[in-house]
Formats: sequence, structure tokens, C-alpha cells
Amino acid sequence: MIAVDGPSGAGKGLVTRMLAERLGWHRLDSGALYRVLALAAQDAGIELQDGVAVAALAPQLAIEFAGRQESDERILVNGQDWTARVRAETAGDLASRIAALPEVRAALLQRQRDFRRPPGLVADGRDMGTVVFPDARLKIFLDASAEARARRRKLQLSEQGVDANLIDLCVEVRARDARDRSRAVAPLAVAADAVVLDTTQMKPAEVLAAIEALLRQRGLLD
Ligand code: DC
Repeated sequence: MIAVDGPSGAGKGLVTRMLAERLGWHRLDSGALYRVLALAAQDAGIELQDGVAVAALAPQLAIEFAGRQESDERILVNGQDWTARVRAETAGDLASRIAALPEVRAALLQRQRDFRRPPGLVADGRDMGTVVFPDARLKIFLDASAEARARRRKLQLSEQGVDANLIDLCVEVRARDARDRSRAVAPLAVAADAVVLDTTQMKPAEVLAAIEALLRQRGLLD
């Protein structure tokens, strides 16, 4: 079990994909579960502050992930392709709002743990090492400056043909961070036994190499 936590845009998605591919392990994108639940609540006309009502929706959602790369990723919800709406910027913002509600976090806890299966799991999120998988063999906290994260997001959006303003993205990144770090339940925080990697000046391959070195130190990689 490898837990990778950190703020949005720190590179967790790409790095956990590369790592899962390298090890031949499964991957959990926990943020996608929060995104799907937030969108489903919005579709159902549920108030996003109503934790009990939002949490009650979770068991009704069959969520399937397919594809190992970002380019061939497919997220199916009750058999329908929700990939594009789950990846939209607004879904991340809605997810961050419902993620502050204790009932919602409780409703998704076991669901996330169920992703753990042989030969291993690389989990991407905010509380993977602190709450969901506290016994993970390796915990990484990926960080980067807000400016670097906004720049990466702009690049990612332009690859999807979306032209976003860098300053607006930077403001959004900071607002989402503040909400994720300050919530009462399972806030974004560095686990006591996590290794912090600041990726501001690092390329994805360098981040992967740094994580591989940590895995070797722990005897998890030859
Ligand atoms: O990683 P992401 O951008 O897909 O996550 C969307 C939001 O979901 C994020 O702003 C906070 C919330 N989240 C969370 O609270 N706990 C997680 N383990 C993953 C995501």
C-alpha cells in the first residue's frame, strides 16, 4: 500500500499513474469518488451542505474506472460515461465542498478501502496516509507552489482545448487548498511518517525516480 497525498495540482494524478504502471499495481483516485458524489447530489437537486442526504446517495452509485493513462481514462457511473464532467474544474470545486462534511467522508471510507487488493494499491488523495490507509508501507506528500500548480493546470486545460486565465486558476487553487486544509474532518495534512516531496522544480520522471529510491530503501523494489 502506497499513499500519495497533497494539494490539487501537485502532480499526484500523473505520478500515481506512472507508479501503478511501473509496479503493476492498482490505483485509487479517491478525489474522483468525491467528484462523482458531488455531481450526483447536484443532479438530484440535493443541497450540498446536507451531509446526511449527500451521503445517502453514495450506495446508489456504481462507479467503475477504466484505462491506465489520463488519455484513455473512463469513469462510468451507473453505466454512463461521466469522464468529462468528473474532470471539469467545477466538479473539483463541488467535491471540495462536500468533502468537508463528516457524513460524506464516513460514507466513502470503506468504499476506498475496498480498492486495496493484491498485488498492491497506489492511492491518490488528501487523507490516504492520515485516515484511510494509516498502515501504508510508504506515504508521500507531494507539494508544489500554488503558482506552479496553477501553471500545470493551465497546461492540462489547454491540452483539452480550454483556455483558462492563470491568475484566476491561481486564486482557485489557493481557495481550494484553504478549504481542504482547514476543514474539521480529515483535513489535508502531512502524516507524521510521510516523506514530503516539493515538486515545484521537478519533472514527473524525477518525482517517479525519487519515489522509486524510497521504495528501494524500504525493500519494496529491486
Ligand atoms: O484530487 P481531486 O482534485 O480530484 O479532489 C477533489 C476534491 O475532493 C478536493 O479538493 C478535496 C476532496 N478530496 C478529499 O477531501 N479527500 C480525498 N481523499 C480526495 C479528494
